[in-house]
Amino acid sequence: MHAKPQISVDEAITTRKSVRAFRPDPVPLETIKHILNVAARAPSGTNIQPWQVYVLAGEAKRRMSAAVLTRREAGPAQPEFSYYPKKWFEPYLARRRKVGWDLYGLLGITRDNKPGMWAQFGRNYLFFDAPVGLFFTFHRDLELGTWLDMGMFIQNVMIAARGQGLHTCPQAAWIEYPETVAAELGLKPHEQLVCGMSMGYADESALVNTLETERAPCEAFTVFRGF
Ligand SMILES: Cc1cc2nc3c(=O)[nH]c(=O)nc-3n(C[C@H](O)[C@H](O)[C@H](O)COP(=O)(O)O)c2cc1C
Repeated sequence: MHAKPQISVDEAITTRKSVRAFRPDPVPLETIKHILNVAARAPSGTNIQPWQVYVLAGEAKRRMSAAVLTRREAGPAQPEFSYYPKKWFEPYLARRRKVGWDLYGLLGITRDNKPGMWAQFGRNYLFFDAPVGLFFTFHRDLELGTWLDMGMFIQNVMIAARGQGLHTCPQAAWIEYPETVAAELGLKPHEQLVCGMSMGYADESALVNTLETERAPCEAFTVFRGF
């Protein structure tokens, strides 16, 4: 049985951050099942529960990393889908640049250091040394609304993980090599890969995990009427 998490909802949400260095300590299968069962309380339109999850640890996780890192050396692939716009514009461009330069700056990787950036980005494919890697898919014949359901489910996974003292990093990096990921997971052609995720116990001593990301206050993105 899992003890009730000693963490408030606000705390679970606000202490979630993308962790990019993990301790090697394994996560018990029961804890992962608990997180996924909690996460599956996510709403979905007409309760279709479109999510399919793959959880890798140990040898299965190592094989995925090796396959994708090898594929990466062979050159770019066709991404599973276009997560970002082809042409960036404000205010999104400035925000994107800020988090990128803050991250690389923290690690002493300068703008002209392309090998340094390549290496740091490559840590995605080692799940940042996390003991657990997850992948999320849904049936391609479902419609646009399913992306909403998937987002809510995936966020629930990250918040429920906080309840168990775990941290995560959601990762679009994996959609860069969809064929390799699909082959390793044994995906059926109808399965749409959404993203991967690293999960484990944060390495609190790692510099990369001291990154602080900003958020605009609600007044900047909300219209209040009738108050
Ligand atoms: C769907 C999704 C995909 C992401 N992909 C990556 C990724 O591949 N690698 C990575 O290091 N961070 C990735 N991130 C993390 C974002 O950079 C991060 O959420 C953002 O900078 C805000 O920081 P925070 O999560 O620490 O609050 C992703 C986030 C989301 C929501």
